[in-house]
Amino acid sequence: MEHSAKQGEHSDSRSFQVRKNYLSGGKHYAFFTLKNVSENRIGMVYELIDGLSFPVYTKLVMDRYADGKAKEVLKRIGADRSSDERLSSASNRPLKSKLEQQLRSLDTLSRRVTEGGDALFKISMTFIVSGSHPAELNSNMKRFAQAMSLLGMDLVREHVLSRRRALKLATPLKSLRAKYILDSRSVASLVPLRYEGTPSIGGVFLGVDADSEKPVFADPFQGNSYNSVIVGETGSGKSFFSKLLLMRALITGTAKSALVIDPMGEYGADLCASSSSILEEEDIVAKIPNLAVNSSFQDLTIVRQTPDILNRNSSILDEVINITDRFLRSGNGSKKIILIDEAHSYFRFARTTGYLDTIYRSSRHFNTSVISISQNLEDFTGIPEGKSMLSNSSMNFIFRNKDRQRNAISFLTSRRFGELRTDLLPGGKRDPYSECYFYSDGMLRRIRIICTAREAGIIGQS
Ligand SMILES: Nc1ncnc2c1ncn2[C@@H]1O[C@H](COP(=O)(O)OP(=O)(O)O)[C@@H](O)[C@H]1O
Ligand SMILES: [Mg+2]
Repeated sequence: MEHSAKQGEHSDSRSFQVRKNYLSGGKHYAFFTLKNVSENRIGMVYELIDGLSFPVYTKLVMDRYADGKAKEVLKRIGADRSSDERLSSASNRPLKSKLEQQLRSLDTLSRRVTEGGDALFKISMTFIVSGSHPAELNSNMKRFAQAMSLLGMDLVREHVLSRRRALKLATPLKSLRAKYILDSRSVASLVPLRYEGTPSIGGVFLGVDADSEKPVFADPFQGNSYNSVIVGETGSGKSFFSKLLLMRALITGTAKSALVIDPMGEYGADLCASSSSILEEEDIVAKIPNLAVNSSFQDLTIVRQTPDILNRNSSILDEVINITDRFLRSGNGSKKIILIDEAHSYFRFARTTGYLDTIYRSSRHFNTSVISISQNLEDFTGIPEGKSMLSNSSMNFIFRNKDRQRNAISFLTSRRFGELRTDLLPGGKRDPYSECYFYSDGMLRRIRIICTAREAGIIGQS
């Protein structure tokens, strides 16, 4: 029996089943083959694999169809699909629309091959995930399957029953039964030319450098300090970006767990495929004080409180600090993220401002990356604690701001880059993607935040 990372909802990947037949020999392996691709972001596959905190071997075998044969093959598949489509019952909408979509793709393929002179390839792709013991393999497989599912790659777990089959799967150049048909354009995105290595392991894929189109990775746990600051006007894409960052960090294992302070109630449990909990406003006063000091946290904990309640009820403020501090000390030194959205609403209170400054200085000691989101860099440069936070922040993301924040930016970048046109950055509901300036390690880059439709779907639902 086979289990596949199913197409569709994110929750499907959560229920991904891992079965117990490993090929042993010091290491434990699991094999996956590509079954279907339902998004055109397949070119991101290597970036995603590079971002995983464990190695995944990829085997890609390509055979080119002879030109006459290519047309014949496409014709035959087209005829099969359209008869399937005709015979499928009108009430089975999902199947009908899937077949229709396949027919449209086939049509495009045929046109490219017959009119555009593209070549046609059959490819087979195998991914080999390993672990040094079964439990590690299990967790690596789950992460891998979730990551691939977000990319729109539908994989079939190969249940390796014999040594021969396993060797065949792992041997370079040996073709497999599972074949996927692509034209040369799509093959080019699958086999990108690489002139420069991307980081071998670790880090989160953020997007591409807007000037060079090269992928940009960031590992929050690698700088002198682990913290970040994200600024930009309302609607510039800050929360979208932090949800993406969070989701990718948890899936790749870059961070083990995260706490989100979410005053607007926009972060959803779906951002974490393993385990999450949401503390609503009424839980904050009722539950937090009663939590045992050493109580453990889910992989994602979301604390929701509205900014105006902070004015009315200051005990909530204390409880937010309380739970943040417990989280900071939890997890036996595992890597954690604390994300504070709308951080400027905390700058109104000396208690929270002081606390934020303190954790920006001590977070490394707790293996924790603190990320604050605010509207203006001036929110930070305007107060001594904020300046200290900036100086303890290794990665800074500056999204669109009409007000060009000249002074604040020169504070951050020591005036080396002149004026940043933050007012020109795309981002928001009407743009297909957002861009931001990424300042880290004395380097300033403009990056384009890109994601798959599935990732955007999960972020949108949250
Ligand atoms: N990179 C992106 N790709 C697609 N949509 C985006 C992107 N960034 C932002 N958006 C959309 O723009 C809108 C505003 O983004 P949001 O992150 O909520 O802004 P902010 O937190 O800065 O106020 C959201 O509806 C979001 O879906
Ligand atoms: Mg926001």
